[in-house]
Amino acid sequence: MESTPLLVKALQRRVLDRPPVWLMRQAGRYMAEYRELKEKYSFLELCKSPELSCEVTMQPIRYLNPDAAILFADILLPLESMGLEVAFNPGPQIGNPIRDRSDIENLRPVDVEKSLGYVFDAVSAIRKELDASYANPERKALLGFAGAPWTMACYMLDQTPFKHFMGTQVFAARSKESIHLLLDTMTPMLIEYLSLQAQRGADAVQLFDTWAGNLSEEAYREFALPYTQRIVEALQAKDIPVVVYVNGSSHLLQAMIDSGACTISVDARTSLRRAHELGQGNVAVQGNFDPCDLFLPKDEVISKTQAMLDSMKGVNGYLVNLGHGILQTTPPEN
Ligand code: CP3
Repeated sequence: MESTPLLVKALQRRVLDRPPVWLMRQAGRYMAEYRELKEKYSFLELCKSPELSCEVTMQPIRYLNPDAAILFADILLPLESMGLEVAFNPGPQIGNPIRDRSDIENLRPVDVEKSLGYVFDAVSAIRKELDASYANPERKALLGFAGAPWTMACYMLDQTPFKHFMGTQVFAARSKESIHLLLDTMTPMLIEYLSLQAQRGADAVQLFDTWAGNLSEEAYREFALPYTQRIVEALQAKDIPVVVYVNGSSHLLQAMIDSGACTISVDARTSLRRAHELGQGNVAVQGNFDPCDLFLPKDEVISKTQAMLDSMKGVNGYLVNLGHGILQTTPPEN
């Protein structure tokens, strides 16, 4: 019989001998093997080929041996299906950002299964490869993911000259009905997108609401939380565990917990212990090693990691991770 992967047990807050570990952006440019592939293929070509996406997903599994693989893709892929021009140079750029309500009304309805079929094929390929290479009891989890509606909207509405996606906050403040229409349009599409990833072999999904940390708690509860809640409810009703990640979320922990997600993922500015205590034992916590500290000498990386682990000693429902993604020039051995 197949055993439950360690990471899934931690999401269920079971008693474990050690916490599971994986790293956000564990695949990517800090790895020489990835950079080699990037000489032959563009980022979008890697994402759109199930074979290459599977290969890139597996690179850090072989090198780091973490407890979970995360699908190699990007949160912006679904935007292409909606009619937006998405480019990566390497940061994302939208060629035709949304300017007004009519642009929102004119977004293409998405046939998720068809237009994002390459993502689901990648999930199947990774599941197969993981199960062939790692048998019980080391069976590895596979994480699917998507961007949360607010963070997706940030890219769809991003307009210079604002920084930190303040243009999206200005748009939301001035055009409440339109922003809610946009967020409401994204939500069922994301539910279907994540459900299909789970159907094809993802054990759990992470909802990246990276830029929601820019919002006050009041604005988060107005523009981000209701949509996150809907996604969490729909997926967890189908037994698909959801991890909610927000960057810079110290002021949003209670609201993130209110999303109903089984797990909240926090960055290095947040106290893991405080997040755990706010959850009153009902929510698992993931995080939060500072990706900048991966540039320290090895012995300091070890002592800081030990301090992080000590701070969560005895907690059921803890997943070791970084506070944000691995930075490009990180020394891989760290
Ligand atoms: O290993 C993994 O974590 C899985 C793959 C993954 C990527 N993007 C690959 C990627 C995941 C989970 C993402 C999510 C993502 N994408 C988020 C949420 C997580 C976060 O970082 O907060 C966001 C905001 C994006 C949008 C995005 N895509 C940005 C901001 C960038 C530029 C990143 C940079 O460091 O320049 C991308 C491009 C991207 N996505 C790369 C990778 C490996 C680099 C592209 C390249 O290799 O040229």
